[in-house]
Amino acid sequence: MFQLNENFQKLPGSYLFSTIGKKVNAYTQANPDKKIIRLGIGDVTQPLAPAIIEALHKAVDEMAAAETFHGYAPDLGYEFLRNAIVSDYKERGCDISPDEVFVSDGAKSDSGNIQEIFSVNNRIAVCDPVYPVYVDSNAMAGRTGDYNKETEMWSNVIYMPCTMENDFVPEFPKETPDIIYLCLPNNPTGTTITKEQLCEWVDYANRVGAVIIYDAAYEAYISEDNVAHSIYECEGAKTCAIELKSFSKNAGFTGVRLGYTIVPKELKSGDVSLNAMWARRHGTKFNGAPYIVQRAGEAVFSREGKAQLKEQVAYYMKNASEIKTGLKDAGYTVFGGVNAPYIWLKTPERMTSWEFFDYLLENANVVGTPGSGFGPSGEGYFRLTAFGSYENTLAALERIRKL
Ligand code: MLT
Repeated sequence: MFQLNENFQKLPGSYLFSTIGKKVNAYTQANPDKKIIRLGIGDVTQPLAPAIIEALHKAVDEMAAAETFHGYAPDLGYEFLRNAIVSDYKERGCDISPDEVFVSDGAKSDSGNIQEIFSVNNRIAVCDPVYPVYVDSNAMAGRTGDYNKETEMWSNVIYMPCTMENDFVPEFPKETPDIIYLCLPNNPTGTTITKEQLCEWVDYANRVGAVIIYDAAYEAYISEDNVAHSIYECEGAKTCAIELKSFSKNAGFTGVRLGYTIVPKELKSGDVSLNAMWARRHGTKFNGAPYIVQRAGEAVFSREGKAQLKEQVAYYMKNASEIKTGLKDAGYTVFGGVNAPYIWLKTPERMTSWEFFDYLLENANVVGTPGSGFGPSGEGYFRLTAFGSYENTLAALERIRKL
């Protein structure tokens, strides 16, 4: 008789964005005449940049001729893409070699899968609130202990609260973690820490023998000079950090799917190389991102691609600025939106995050994301994304102002 992975039974509800999707669908079915504006999930709305479209077309044509056709991609990804990624790191002064780059179908998969190479006995530390995949994937693996419905916390997870009281800067935990997840600029708060503060985390991890899983998905949105674009800008990071990168937010690949993970060769546990372990795992369980998509990824790093994507990022950051100013003028307390495309606000009149979600959906027909969905310290907060169109962003703001 087969047995199930009981860890799945411990997971509360469904994945955050699936729950939101179901709620919004139910509302639209009951109110077909209402025009909903979605500023919930961080999904992009602008079309792919011309340089990327051109690369895609060219690669599709190559697939139509036997001489230029491509089958399985190499395990780690095509060299042309890994070399482009390495050059990009070099421009930031980070010395990464192509065999430290693992191309994948997106940072979400990597952020969920990376925990597999660590012992189930490891203890994880997460910022609270944070992107739910880190905790959920560790819960599925049986690393998080038991879930307490009252506190909405796992017994074996170290939570590092990031709230307005500490300027959203995580403090070193009292108990020593083995694996530390940092997503900076942060999803969902849209806030970040300085390079100096990040380098203190690197020193801390090296000191206590922890590994940092560093999710840099929103790096392209950094506008302040004192913020690091990669954890490898910090000395010593190659002995303690794995970096996850996405093409979704900087290049609009949410529906195209492409990402990469950097596992430095210096990162070791005793004699065992994490790079070799991840290579083994990648080779066994993954057959490569499509050739066409990897060519599109290469175009992201081309001169034209970079210029076009800078404009796209500016477009979304204009939305962020409109939301931030508009909400402030309307009396809301708001954070983020300077180095990230997310605005994090205090819910008005002490509403819970989900109460405010319902209130906004029903009265303004605007969808956002309840802060508590990202962790217990997110309660009483709410996230709006700047990834909508400019017109929809302004329309949503107008509706919220009128409430
Ligand atoms: C979010 O809205 O938090 C993200 O877009 C979800 C994701 O990247 O998977």
